[in-house]
Amino acid sequence: MTPRPPLPTDATGRWPGSSEACTPPRLHAQAMALYAQRAPVYDLELAPFEALRQEAIAALQLQPGQTVLDVGCGTGLSLPGLHAGVGSQGRVCALEQSPPMLTQARTRCAGWPGLSLLQAAAEEAPWPSDLRADAALFFFTHDILQQPEALRRAFAALAPGARVVAVGLCWAPPWLPLSNCFVLGASLHSIAHPVHLEAPWQDLAPRLRQVHVARRCWEAVYLLTGRV
Ligand SMILES: C[S@@+](CC[C@H](N)C(=O)[O-])C[C@H]1O[C@@H](n2cnc3c(N)ncnc32)[C@H](O)[C@@H]1O
Repeated sequence: MTPRPPLPTDATGRWPGSSEACTPPRLHAQAMALYAQRAPVYDLELAPFEALRQEAIAALQLQPGQTVLDVGCGTGLSLPGLHAGVGSQGRVCALEQSPPMLTQARTRCAGWPGLSLLQAAAEEAPWPSDLRADAALFFFTHDILQQPEALRRAFAALAPGARVVAVGLCWAPPWLPLSNCFVLGASLHSIAHPVHLEAPWQDLAPRLRQVHVARRCWEAVYLLTGRV
């Protein structure tokens, strides 16, 4: 099988035609500031969620030669697992708007074949019109999931039947107050627009079939799987 070429980017590594500006501007500025601040310690903070990350990647059921999207890839912690899943003949297309986060992803994965790391806001991402990815991962990307335009664009880049996995914070039942303290603290720490935490998948799920939502981390985190 011939290795698939990486996706085209311009000289800065952005998607052609993308800009840093996105809507709404206030939330964009908040998210950018949040992750500029978190970037140096991000990998350490996410270490407790490594087993959950591996579970999410396994749930994508990747096959050699496939194409997978990592939407809001951060520092690229999922990229080794995604790359291993699609193999050297496959393609990983990762999108991230925060330059300090993306810089770490670039360092982590320098020189990997079939990997495209691109700087853009998800709601402005001009995914190539011929892209038909086999799977997409949204791992702790609450702000992206709340933006219908970001979802519309990502789904336009997915093939029929593509597998989608999302993981994120959500309110636990009221009889688990410690879990909800965690959700409150973690969302203030990591989300620019902490709305719909009772069902953060509410815009995602209607786009999918075979939707299954499981709970992890004492119900403070959800793991959604589904198919386009
Ligand atoms: C909690 S981090 C998760 C990073 C990564 N998915 C992981 O598994 O560790 C959320 C990431 O989403 C990015 N992000 C937030 N809003 C975004 C948007 N509108 N477009 C692209 N990236 C965004 C942030 O910059 C941050 O890197």
